Amino acid sequence: MIQLKQLTKKYGKGDKITDALTSLDLSIKKGEIFGVIGHSGAGKSTLIRCMNLLERPTSGEVWVNDVELTALNKQQLQHERRNIGMIFQHFNLLSSATVYDNIAFPLQLAHANKEHIHARVSELLALVDLEAHRDKYPSQLSGGQKQRVGIARALASDPQVLLCDEATSALDPQTTDSILKLLLDINKRFNLTIVLITHEMHVIQSICDRVAVIHQGGIIEQGPVTEVFLKPQHAVTRDFIRGEANVGDWIHTVGGNGTNGAFSQTVKITFLGEQTYDAILSRTAREIGVDFAILQGTISTIKDTPYGQLFVRIEGEADKINATIAEIASKGLDVEVID
Ligand SMILES: Nc1ncnc2c1ncn2[C@@H]1O[C@H](COP(=O)(O)OP(=O)(O)OP(=O)(O)O)[C@@H](O)[C@H]1O
Ligand SMILES: [Mg+2]
Repeated sequence: MIQLKQLTKKYGKGDKITDALTSLDLSIKKGEIFGVIGHSGAGKSTLIRCMNLLERPTSGEVWVNDVELTALNKQQLQHERRNIGMIFQHFNLLSSATVYDNIAFPLQLAHANKEHIHARVSELLALVDLEAHRDKYPSQLSGGQKQRVGIARALASDPQVLLCDEATSALDPQTTDSILKLLLDINKRFNLTIVLITHEMHVIQSICDRVAVIHQGGIIEQGPVTEVFLKPQHAVTRDFIRGEANVGDWIHTVGGNGTNGAFSQTVKITFLGEQTYDAILSRTAREIGVDFAILQGTISTIKDTPYGQLFVRIEGEADKINATIAEIASKGLDVEVID
């Protein structure tokens, strides 16, 4: 659906050049919600603005829906852009226009007739639940309501792709969740491809199918959110995963000290899917005859998939501990021994 090939973007001239993106390749499928996460200055906005050529890449190709945008003239590009909606962190609404007129604006630009505009705007107002606010001005709306206007406006021309640049970063956690829910809803309803740029792992975890981590203008890691989230390969990725970074040291200090002088071994156990709710750990410990203490744990969901991640100290005789680890692993759980 979206393909970036060897995308490079440099800002500035001479000795003041910033390499914002360097030979970046990325492929996003139709109907998926694809997240891009990265620290400030990593190149996120540049990347997403290159997807609709708001920013022209220095070199490389941008393909959307089997059309190479980087090969089009101005008029062709204007036409293709109707396929691509965009929403922004600070909403970018017209302050002197009502909610209704903000949503109608792209349709007026495309010279749609009045009846069509009226029907479409009414439909969109219902979709984003703003019918009661149609005659208000942006200054009379909350942040969440403003972003709903932004979403309705972006969807006015019935695009196939929605680009979101930090669309929830200016919102409180509850409002963020309601906007994410709305995005998920329109993704499912219209099979809309959504690209979502953020610096918050929570946003990725809530609604994205796949994620790429961007660092210094390049993609350092990508894959299904479950994989990247539960088995981060890169230090930058681990930084984004809350709690992970803080686990290390104290876990090592409590490992090795089983009660009553028994052997002990600390392990990190990752459950995914329905097995998250199974009693695999306690059943195995009882059958083999070891004890265990949960040192730290999370049970949550990644999009619709339940997962659990537990740091567990297993106590008992050495061979029984090893048998326990082998047995848990044989049940398909991911077990990592912590030294
Ligand atoms: N118009 C510009 N002119 C010069 N340099 C720019 C311009 N826009 C961005 N940059 C530089 O390019 C790099 C990437 O910027 P970009 O805005 O894409 O980062 P970002 O990941 O979106 O950051 P943030 O999370 O702060 O929004 C940064 O070093 C930035 O300073
Ligand atoms: Mg940005």
